[in-house]
Amino acid sequence: MKKVITYGTFDLLHRGHLNILKRAKALGDYLIVGVTSDNYDLLRGKLNVSQSTTERIENVRKTGLADEIIIEEYDGQKINDIKKYNVDTIVIGSDWLNKLDYLKPYCEVVYLDRTKGVSSTDLRNIKNRILKLGIAGNGRIAQRFIKEAKFVSGVEVEYVYGRTLEHIKTVCEKFNLSGYFTDYDKFLDNIDAVYIALPHNLHYDYAKKALLKGKHVLCEKPITLTKSQTLELYKIAKDRDLILQEGIKTAYVPCFERLIGIAKSGIIGAIKDIDATFTKLISDKTLREYNIELGGGSLTELGSYPLCIITKLLGTNPVDIGYIYSKDDETSVDIMNKVILTYKDSIATANVGIGIKKEGNCVISGTDGYILVPSPWWKTEYFEIHFEDQNKTQKFFTKFEGDGLRYELADFIKSINNKTQAYKWTEEESVFVSSIIENFKHGKNVKEINTRGGGEFLNSLIEISFNILIRLFSSQEGGLAVC
Ligand code: CTP
Repeated sequence: MKKVITYGTFDLLHRGHLNILKRAKALGDYLIVGVTSDNYDLLRGKLNVSQSTTERIENVRKTGLADEIIIEEYDGQKINDIKKYNVDTIVIGSDWLNKLDYLKPYCEVVYLDRTKGVSSTDLRNIKNRILKLGIAGNGRIAQRFIKEAKFVSGVEVEYVYGRTLEHIKTVCEKFNLSGYFTDYDKFLDNIDAVYIALPHNLHYDYAKKALLKGKHVLCEKPITLTKSQTLELYKIAKDRDLILQEGIKTAYVPCFERLIGIAKSGIIGAIKDIDATFTKLISDKTLREYNIELGGGSLTELGSYPLCIITKLLGTNPVDIGYIYSKDDETSVDIMNKVILTYKDSIATANVGIGIKKEGNCVISGTDGYILVPSPWWKTEYFEIHFEDQNKTQKFFTKFEGDGLRYELADFIKSINNKTQAYKWTEEESVFVSSIIENFKHGKNVKEINTRGGGEFLNSLIEISFNILIRLFSSQEGGLAVC
């Protein structure tokens, strides 16, 4: 029996796919079709596949041409499949010409002409039309985002909005955009969706205006600085069937998703403690990060990342939240902040700082072991699982592409096309983080320490930690915090 194998994504199954499957089948007696998994597509940069692996497999099955369907999950799998299934011939379209020659020592390699005039990419674009995205803001993150958007199909960055003509003109020319606006209303009139990368204090007003004008919004974190504003924005979006998404990039990164899934699987037992740190030393006090009016400070600037992983793993209902922070005398912003969240049976600490440098890792500790995500854990690419027995250590790696912003954009576009709110970072989670930021601003459960006094600092930290522990102990209903 002659066995033939072919591979593909087979998204929105079309006549090109049918043709190649028929011709492949005709070359042997038994046809195996390898359909890519969602995760594999994500890893190889195919971020906009419309249908899930299950739907794509079902469509291939319905053609009646495949004798067997397998899932392609990783680079290098083809060699193993050829050996495992005793394959005689691999068939692939001419867009792959010469790229599979390395398989010739294992089986016959046949390239067939592609069917002209049809592709999944075209069908996706017809089905969903290319979304016109505008960028509100022209700072560092806005520019990184424009670069990353080139890796996401189904979207075109068209216009940039900003208040300084000279700056937006430069960005427009640098990235060859269609134009620029200093008038936000006119800018909104020309786009389908907006990415808001303005100073934190402006997020609420600009997101609200865009939603009221019927535009989808992807807003940099923190989405707003208060719980009520975040709730209001989500309500406006829901009432108008619009997508509102908070751009905490870590939440959309493939390795992070894997990390959360594994941590929740019980492999390290019950999660009792999370310690997540993100510090970025900033010395130039003229920058936005040191401007309290613009929502500066280490918690608003960096807090979303550690709070994201804590929220993902422990949820949005801690019994207590406390803050230990240190302030910059000149600007009054918090230059370091330690947010301690006490849950019924666990405790978590989010450490952030713009005036302190710490190892930027994350440790998730459980009753059976712990997970170490090394620095920079928020660009999640690698993590280790450790147990008492060192021989049992497990290591995981999933590539983090470019600057990582492409993942949140791909999810945003998918949500718009599928008319479903993003599930990787939800409204409830956004609202929770906004409330943590707001409570700090209102001075709820906060304790300031003086980092300028050397030994004094250490003494006050010990004293405060002790006080907090007493408070935590007394606020526990059941289980106890692990410290
Ligand atoms: N194929 C083909 N003719 C087409 C489109 C695809 O022969 N017009 C073949 C490909 O060469 C490959 C298989 O069908 O062997 C599966 O291709 P896949 O990548 O799933 O389809 P595309 O339409 O090329 O998808 P995309 O546009 O997302 O790249």
